[in-house]
Amino acid sequence: MGKQRLKSGEKILFSIFGAFLVLGIIAFIALEVVRSRASTPMFVSTTHFNFSPVGLEGSKIYREARCNSCHRALRMGTNMGLNLDGIGSRRSLQWIEGFLNDPEKVYGATTIDHGSSLSAPKEANYVAKLPKEDLRKIAIFLSELTADSGSAVAKAPPQERSGFIDEMVSTFAPESWKEKYKDVRTKSSQESSPEGGMGVKDSEQQ
Ligand code: HEC
Repeated sequence: MGKQRLKSGEKILFSIFGAFLVLGIIAFIALEVVRSRASTPMFVSTTHFNFSPVGLEGSKIYREARCNSCHRALRMGTNMGLNLDGIGSRRSLQWIEGFLNDPEKVYGATTIDHGSSLSAPKEANYVAKLPKEDLRKIAIFLSELTADSGSAVAKAPPQERSGFIDEMVSTFAPESWKEKYKDVRTKSSQESSPEGGMGVKDSEQQ
């Protein structure tokens, strides 16, 4: 059996594939070189974590309790429920622990998925029934997920005055809102805002 020679169609196909492969490798190497030499990171990370030993234990329980099937944390999970990255900058530890134990009482409203044994059967009812100690550890883990003020998942707007936000507020916010709501960016409204409300408390800013 002699060696079969490549047909011209095959030659063209293989050389196109080869060209793509070589280009891909060159592009990959070039990007890696640029990335390793760049002094600023390609993406600025606006969420942070620095886990305490208990927080780490909590993260393990969180993973085992299937919270990620609805939530996103540490950039893993789904977007079905709320994004929990940065929750430590939006909510206090007491608030989170309170919510996990008695969601509707803390929300002051009917919840969709979380509930207590007393409320209607809901998909995340099991959360409030986990051992109190586990809920505390999960709450500590969640409170250690923080975000820079001004990032999409932070409660607080950017620290410095933003011309863009001023422009958006003056263009789109109805006049009536100015009487009804306080601007969270002004100092006086930060002091008077209630716990868990939309205002920003000084103590909750990092
Ligand atoms: C079936 C989907 C589902 C599962 C599973 C689930 N959650 Fe939730 N979670 C939600 C939804 C939806 C909300 C909004 C409140 C509501 O309506 O229930 C929420 C709200 C929260 C909040 C409040 C966030 C805020 O800022 O208002 C926390 C904290 C939370 N979940 C933690 C957890 C933890 C911890 C687990 C796992 C032990 C978990 N969730 C499992 C769907 C889910």
